[in-house]
Amino acid sequence: MSHQSRILITGGAGFIGTNLAASYLRDGYRVTLLDNLSRPGAIRNLEWLQGQFHGSARFIQADVTDGRAVRDAVMDADSIYHFAAQVAVTTSLVDPLGDHRVNAEGTLNVLEAIRSSPHKPALVYTSTNKVYGSLNEIRLSKRSSRYEPDDQELAASGISEQQRLDFHSPYGCSKGSADQYVIDYGRCFNLSTVVFRMSCICGPHQQGTEDQGWVAHFIRRILASEPITIYGDGRQVRDVLYVGDLVRAFRLLERPSAAVQHCAFNIGGGPQQTISVLELLDVVCSLAQHQPVISFASARVGDQLWYVSDHSRYTKLTGWQPAITITESVRHMISWLTSEAAQDVHETAEREPECALL
Ligand SMILES: NC(=O)c1ccc[n+]([C@@H]2O[C@H](COP(=O)([O-])OP(=O)(O)OC[C@H]3O[C@@H](n4cnc5c(N)ncnc54)[C@H](O)[C@@H]3O)[C@@H](O)[C@H]2O)c1
Repeated sequence: MSHQSRILITGGAGFIGTNLAASYLRDGYRVTLLDNLSRPGAIRNLEWLQGQFHGSARFIQADVTDGRAVRDAVMDADSIYHFAAQVAVTTSLVDPLGDHRVNAEGTLNVLEAIRSSPHKPALVYTSTNKVYGSLNEIRLSKRSSRYEPDDQELAASGISEQQRLDFHSPYGCSKGSADQYVIDYGRCFNLSTVVFRMSCICGPHQQGTEDQGWVAHFIRRILASEPITIYGDGRQVRDVLYVGDLVRAFRLLERPSAAVQHCAFNIGGGPQQTISVLELLDVVCSLAQHQPVISFASARVGDQLWYVSDHSRYTKLTGWQPAITITESVRHMISWLTSEAAQDVHETAEREPECALL
């Protein structure tokens, strides 16, 4: 792919989209972002991108459920990253139809647009660990701060792509359908498609909320001295991947080899980068020097007690490895959030005299 290649990122004003777009723009690629700006903070991400790269990203404000807008955007793309999604399990339980429209039908719109385009751009789709269901069959022991599988081999390797699919929650179903459509469109219509199944990604530009983006949400709350609710007992374990490492994994797909075509890969920090909710709170509190008020509530639907990605298949094929530790990730996020907060104060101070005159 040359620098003249056009990269289309749907959901490009979101957390992962902003980081990937910045990486491509830094290297001089032509980048188009398609986003409906529904995520709180998306406008801020977009303004940051346009400020950093002097407005060089082309922006299309559109919804992925709008087939015509998607077709137009796909028309001149050489490579597509499809990130636009309804991203929260909680929202999918309130509005399963809306969730299906965006995640399943929106992805079909992208696939159909690629199928009907003359040049058939390559597609990377971001799926989720939720396609593996609750994983209740894994026997776990309760340690003081986390759950651990009794099976030591599993603990050392993580969950591989061999794990049986078991869509759980409307979000799991809609993302899982899209995941399967992307793989199968690749096979049936000879398109270049790859799926990443990811669990917990964190880093700058993540506008985390209680419903999605828990690492960013906790750090934000702790820095603002706000209370935190833990759903479940807090011993749930995830592997955490820094977004810069994820961007490196995406960029290895610029010229996807035959070996990765039509495959799904579990992508995450892996067994070396695991942490429980309680442990993360400890790390953040000690780095931020704040102690939040914590309360507990019932566990959420579909929340796996232990999920760690086995990314070895992707590593074997591409040599990719995560490099940033969880502590480093948290440090980066604290410094990003602190500078964001400082900018807010600065902007408010600049606006205040005008307000006073009104
Ligand atoms: N962040 C994670 O930990 C994680 C884990 C697993 C999978 N994923 C997947 O990765 C992708 C990107 O996630 P993210 O964390 O950057 O989320 P995000 O919410 O920050 O970004 C998604 C973007 O899509 C946009 N969007 C939402 N609905 C849209 C629609 N109907 N049409 C057009 N744009 C729309 C939003 O405005 C937002 O800017 C999503 O598909 C998500 O399901 C993320």
